[in-house]
Amino acid sequence: MKIISTPLELKRYLKTINKTIGFVPTMGALHEGHISLIKEARKQNELVVVSIFVNPTQFSKDEDLDKYPKKDGADKKICEISGVDILFFPNAKDIYGSDEVSLMAPKVRGFVLEGLTRPSHFNGVLTVVMKLLNIVNPTKVYFGKKDAQQLNLISLMVKQLFMSVEIVAVDTVRESDGLALSSRNIYLSKDERKEALKISSALYLARNLITRNILEVEVIKEQMLNSLQPLEIFYVEILNHDFEIIKKVEVGRSLVLVEVRVGETRLLDNIWL
Ligand code: PAJ
Repeated sequence: MKIISTPLELKRYLKTINKTIGFVPTMGALHEGHISLIKEARKQNELVVVSIFVNPTQFSKDEDLDKYPKKDGADKKICEISGVDILFFPNAKDIYGSDEVSLMAPKVRGFVLEGLTRPSHFNGVLTVVMKLLNIVNPTKVYFGKKDAQQLNLISLMVKQLFMSVEIVAVDTVRESDGLALSSRNIYLSKDERKEALKISSALYLARNLITRNILEVEVIKEQMLNSLQPLEIFYVEILNHDFEIIKKVEVGRSLVLVEVRVGETRLLDNIWL
């Protein structure tokens, strides 16, 4: 595995290679969720590039940028074992200049759900993903369905800016008890870890109701909200796959999303139905 730390060096190297490229952008602290994206990229491409970059512009001032978990040594090993060809490890100085061109998230879809309480978040995500895609110029890029709004907005960006990369959406990887894997799970104490199980339970509750043909969004949301007590709930929402509001669940076209705070940690999860 080759480790490259500057955009220019990576661009220069990739220019000499005539292969299909699968790209997995990450912020490190890699876990099985990231690994499943890497495995998918490995299956579908001749060359696999992973980036590890804790992107400062997607964190607001009061967020956890400084304490975001860093596991550089372990991450490198994971990438090596998972068959990554190139690990791109830039620093912020190489990615950002002082007077920046940046992208704005769409005014509606970028500022609801996660974007409502983190208004600059998706501007930062879209800007860095655009930069990374321009550096790597991959055939396919891999994102997790776990971050459904991120996936939706990046898909929108690729479509609206007529970019030619293909986006591959990968299913959420969970612990055996249902908790979705997240780099932030390590912040949870033992008790908080238990409380966090309310998130996947609420999603499974929604799935059960829908299987029993209870399809009214308000009815399902109310039961979910009750089951999540006493956690601080940012949102419980049921939308179609285009992130539009619906009154009744249509099986095969709907998405149930939850974001809560457990202790000091924001956790989000969803299921696609
Ligand atoms: P990060 O949180 O490191 O996630 C990197 C990728 O892994 C994202 O596409 C995310 O959806 C996916 N992922 C995380 N947990 C997962 C799980 N349990 N199962 C499957 N996939 C999972 O998302 C980001 O980084 C950043 O916003 C980034 C896109 C890299 C831009 O900075």
